[in-house]
Amino acid sequence: MPLGRIGFIRDVQPLLKDQCLECHNNVNASEFAGLNLETRETTLTTGRSAPVIVPGDATQSLLIRVLKLPSKHPVSMPAAPEKVASVRLAILEKWVAEGAEWPADVRLSEH
Ligand code: HEC
Repeated sequence: MPLGRIGFIRDVQPLLKDQCLECHNNVNASEFAGLNLETRETTLTTGRSAPVIVPGDATQSLLIRVLKLPSKHPVSMPAAPEKVASVRLAILEKWVAEGAEWPADVRLSEH
């Protein structure tokens, strides 16, 4: 099934919220590589190896790369890779390749 253009609100937000925010939020980030995925800005500026997204380039984006690591890899985290089904990974990958559009006023929260 070819994916159409990815919409942040429709496609990406629910995925990040369900599968990533529990650890990568403002409060808990310090325990999880410092990465805070609440806003586009925090996503692009936090983390041990910031930036974890290179808009327009999924292969250079750590956020995509960690989700493809085999689960025994030392950097692979609880979420990777089998919890992120391949179709969801394809959505994230395409979203990054399309420039990681994310409205500036949209802040994700766990609940
Ligand atoms: C249960 C907690 C947990 C969840 C859920 C989680 N992560 Fe992580 N994440 C971690 C931990 C722990 C690390 C640090 C691993 C290490 O020490 O190398 C990490 C590291 C990362 C890194 C590397 C950051 C850096 O700068 O080195 C990225 C990118 C990342 N996570 C993205 C995600 C994405 C995207 C999701 C959702 C699909 C997600 N994580 C879900 C715990 C989590």
